[in-house]
Amino acid sequence: MCGIVGILGNRPVAGALVDALRRLEYRGYDSAGIATLDHGRLDRRRAEGKLVALEKRLDAEPLPGNVGIGHTRWATHGRPTESNAHPHATAKVAVVHNGIIENFRELRESLVAGGARFFSETDTEVVAHLVTREMAHGKSPVDAVAATLKQLRGAFALAFLFAGEDNLMIGARKGSPLAIGYGQGTAGKGEMYFGSDAIALAPFTDTISYLDDGDWAVLTRSSVQIFDEQDRPVERPVVKSSATAHMVDKGNHKHFMAKEIHEQPEVVGHTLAHYIDMIQEKVALPGELPFDWSKIKRLSISACGTAFYAGLVAKYWFERFAKLPVEIDIASEFRYRGAPLEAGDLAIFISQSGETADTLATLRYAREHKQHILSVVNVVTSTIARESDVVMPTLAGPEIGVASTKAFTCQLAVLACLALAAGRARGHLSEEDEQKLVHALIEVPRLMAQALTLEPEIEQLALDLAKVGDVLYLGRGTSYPLALEGALKLKEISYIHAEGYAAGELKHGPIALIDETMPVIVIAPYDRVFEKTVSNMQEVAARGGRIILVTDPKGAAEATIASTVTLTLPDMASTVTPLVYAIPVQLIAYHTAAAIGTDVDQPRNLAKSVTVE
Ligand code: F6R
Repeated sequence: MCGIVGILGNRPVAGALVDALRRLEYRGYDSAGIATLDHGRLDRRRAEGKLVALEKRLDAEPLPGNVGIGHTRWATHGRPTESNAHPHATAKVAVVHNGIIENFRELRESLVAGGARFFSETDTEVVAHLVTREMAHGKSPVDAVAATLKQLRGAFALAFLFAGEDNLMIGARKGSPLAIGYGQGTAGKGEMYFGSDAIALAPFTDTISYLDDGDWAVLTRSSVQIFDEQDRPVERPVVKSSATAHMVDKGNHKHFMAKEIHEQPEVVGHTLAHYIDMIQEKVALPGELPFDWSKIKRLSISACGTAFYAGLVAKYWFERFAKLPVEIDIASEFRYRGAPLEAGDLAIFISQSGETADTLATLRYAREHKQHILSVVNVVTSTIARESDVVMPTLAGPEIGVASTKAFTCQLAVLACLALAAGRARGHLSEEDEQKLVHALIEVPRLMAQALTLEPEIEQLALDLAKVGDVLYLGRGTSYPLALEGALKLKEISYIHAEGYAAGELKHGPIALIDETMPVIVIAPYDRVFEKTVSNMQEVAARGGRIILVTDPKGAAEATIASTVTLTLPDMASTVTPLVYAIPVQLIAYHTAAAIGTDVDQPRNLAKSVTVE
């Protein structure tokens, strides 16, 4: 996660850009930079390290100009050096970028073959060169950006400046957020802005339009044109942001939960970038581990609620990739069952808040039994983090909605990287296999952005679900924890009774519940257990149950069972399905609750952090 700001101003902008970047430093801070246009000439200043380094550089070499873009970086492709810092530029165009361009290697090769010279290791620089190439073919800046966007794969936000164009700034959003700010007051009148969130724009304006996914926007001082992914002109609402007052706001969403669901392509990308060397396509854990994977005989995982389900998915991964036996427990059960633990083994604790009393108590029990303690937490200043030997942070940002969403998928991202690291260290995963799996992980933010496009369909479906009293969720393999998560999410925010089952268990009891009134949500990507799940679906259909199948194009084609509603996700590697399938599962719960009208962000009887046993 990096921060982006752009100002099309009427006064020198360098100082204002730095001010905005200071508010964005929470999104990344290993380097920063700004570019401005002065009398049509592009120039930039960049510096490695925190923002003060950039400020010092600007003190020594000020940057004039009333138009500019700025960026604080959290390194993904390429080390945190000055030459990798944004903006990236050619003589014609400067660009700042947040997110990942998945196909940058192919693009870079084709640009180099055409004579382009690269000065950084980043994926971003290809964007500057692509726009420049399009302009060299005679296209205007606007057409050149439109043509470039069609060549990019991945999840990203971009902002551009062009040499000789003192009254133009272009921005684009796909998977990573971007907002337009409208200048106000005497100082800001006639100014326009881009920002990666309302917090970036708060010093300038509270009047904002959030771009929808796939949108791109052309700003001049007197006009805003927004286009959708098909380049059709569109309008987006102008809203008042409350970011100045609260520092966290809901953006264009009705609830924090909706905003947090939509943030996932970005925050999961950010989390993955922290654990993956994107250039080599291999896992690169931040820092040394205080244990040797090959000496661990047994791994125990403990957590509560949604975090427990993330652990349950991880059990499949650790056992499969690292051949490491895993015991997983609900934290409140673990220490009371007196599990025998052998000194020197590893215990992993997963917690968004890092304050959950049951998880903390279990951690202390594991410490007493001389386990290595590794925690996966979102709040790095929390008690669980402080009491761990090693902390693997999820970089989900603050999660405000009580029902956990983005923390869950970020936990999965970290746990997947840990399982691959364990697999390599224990000699069960070849370099090639690791690369394949890492490649699949890198695609997750884009796939998540695609999964979010199912939202209108799910909203419609939720109108029916809102009328039922009970729902059953089924899944096999890593889709089984997702079935449990789906049922938990639905019951906690909509108050509809729901149960999650391993699909194979259906015939051992829950099948008795099935009649025409019972919706059964089946999570079944086309993987090696798909056929078996289809048999379970037949059992449901034979008893009049209403099936909602969440699958992919192959699954949709194979499972031709009458009266099934199918939600079709894109094809993907089976390892990453839990991360991407989480999105429809969360959207089903969210829209059902929203249709009923419950207090989605603060459901009754619950608390965000449960600090009692
Ligand atoms: C469900 C949910 C809870 C939490 C659980 C653990 O949506 O949010 O089940 O996952 O209370 O909380 P943390 O992760 O803070 O330990």
